[in-house]
Amino acid sequence: MAIPSAPPGPSSTDAADLLARVQAHGAVPRHVAIIMDGNGRWARERHMPRPFGHRAGMAAVRDVVEGCLDSGVQWLSLFAFSQENWQRPVSEVSALMGLLEEYIQREADALERQGVRVRVLGDLSRLNARAAAAVDRVVQQTSNGTRLGLNLFISYGGRAELVRAAREIAADVQAGRLAPEAVSEDTIRDRLFTAFCPDPDLLIRTSGEQRLSNFLLWQVAYAELYIASVLWPDFGRAALYEAILDFQRRDRRFGRVAP
Ligand code: FPP
Repeated sequence: MAIPSAPPGPSSTDAADLLARVQAHGAVPRHVAIIMDGNGRWARERHMPRPFGHRAGMAAVRDVVEGCLDSGVQWLSLFAFSQENWQRPVSEVSALMGLLEEYIQREADALERQGVRVRVLGDLSRLNARAAAAVDRVVQQTSNGTRLGLNLFISYGGRAELVRAAREIAADVQAGRLAPEAVSEDTIRDRLFTAFCPDPDLLIRTSGEQRLSNFLLWQVAYAELYIASVLWPDFGRAALYEAILDFQRRDRRFGRVAP
């Protein structure tokens, strides 16, 4: 099945205009996290099977990566497959795993050329051998990228990530390497999959749903939330810039009062 052409949405002139406004406005979020939702509904609206929507979603990923590179976002975290998604029909799970392989095969060279460093985060022990090999390949191939860190969350759950951290801390305490009173926020932070990058400044969810769905529960404590009504395959760089413009109007106080 061929990747559908770019979905109808704001034209490239709109995107260029929005980018100019983003740049005129000032600081862009350092780290953007996205819950990519609505692929299934997008396919259903077209009387097509759900994997058709996921395939269109893959094209949207490419456009949003370009949008991050052009606007200067340094980290992009994408929720591509949750732990709960393993419970979807086998046919959909295998379609998603196939798309992961295909995405890596198609994009790895361009990502490397563009200075994107890919990391794949989650319980990767559940991936099949082909998907695991593809993941290893792209992580290795892009490891020198410095312009954009692209974190793909696969087989990921926020609560499971916290359980994993708690177990590591408990083991360190039990072994006498760590005193209980020395456990701090940093102790937990350092044991999360995301220990190498700053917390998201902006969390976007598409398709109008207003839930975190177990994504980055610890890390989004002070993220600004942005709910886009469009379904993920219709989200592209212009929609990203609209979200950033909205972010730039927010007053971030981190629990303090304005000076
Ligand atoms: C949620 O839509 C989306 C997913 C579970 C998968 C996301 C996957 C992609 C965007 C394509 C692959 C991307 C990469 C980077 C390999 P949903 O299926 O829950 O939609 P619905 O709520 O309308 O049913």
